[in-house]
Amino acid sequence: MREYNDTIKYWDNIFGQANIYDPRKVIKIQKIEKGISWLVKDSKSIVDFGCGNGAVLFRSLYQGIEYGYGIDISNNAIKIANKIIREFNLENKVDVICGGIEKLSGVNSNSFESAVLFNILDNLKPEDSINLIKQIHRIVKPNGKILLKLNPYITAEERKEYNFIEISQEFYKEESGLYLWNLTEAKLHEIISPYFIIEKHEKIEFKEFNIINRMYYLRNK
Ligand SMILES: C[S@@+](CC[C@H](N)C(=O)[O-])C[C@H]1O[C@@H](n2cnc3c(N)ncnc32)[C@H](O)[C@@H]1O
Repeated sequence: MREYNDTIKYWDNIFGQANIYDPRKVIKIQKIEKGISWLVKDSKSIVDFGCGNGAVLFRSLYQGIEYGYGIDISNNAIKIANKIIREFNLENKVDVICGGIEKLSGVNSNSFESAVLFNILDNLKPEDSINLIKQIHRIVKPNGKILLKLNPYITAEERKEYNFIEISQEFYKEESGLYLWNLTEAKLHEIISPYFIIEKHEKIEFKEFNIINRMYYLRNK
């Protein structure tokens, strides 16, 4: 966990300045709402690793899921999610806990029907990312659905401009202190294809931040 001290500091600072919000509110990016609709269809439970303040978890609930479980390493993020749970009487429908990848080992196999991995898989140390894939494969039932969102592939020119520090091949520490495993499409396929089938993928534009994310609809093998 010590390796994630800078990550924790970064996200605790962000979420420390944030307030509770209305969890029923539709997410502005339509493709994300659609992705959640796909995820919750015929699915009763969802696990969200790196859930932040719970935005996707709560939207999944209001779109029809019966139970959600979120894990995040930032205590301040979990505090906000917990405040929302209390404020909106969601105590029987959602649990969130503070912690890292180790928390997934305590979750029973085949105990969830779907999972969310939003901007987390490529922000861990590569060995933890591989472990995350294996844990999600184990925890989600066969044929269950996983919605995965990743950062864009960052080119050499951009990496120079952003002052990334290279730790190992295609693995960087950003100026913010966050890790980035800069995954090409080929590398992503290599690491996920033993466990998941890619049913669909699309680009998501965040106009406010001038950034494009990659989103994948995955089916558990
Ligand atoms: C970009 S935010 C995404 C939040 C949320 N998934 C969403 O889409 O709204 C990344 C989140 O991952 C969490 N995170 C980063 N490293 C983590 C780790 N090693 N274990 C658990 N959570 C982690 C951060 O605290 C942060 O809340």
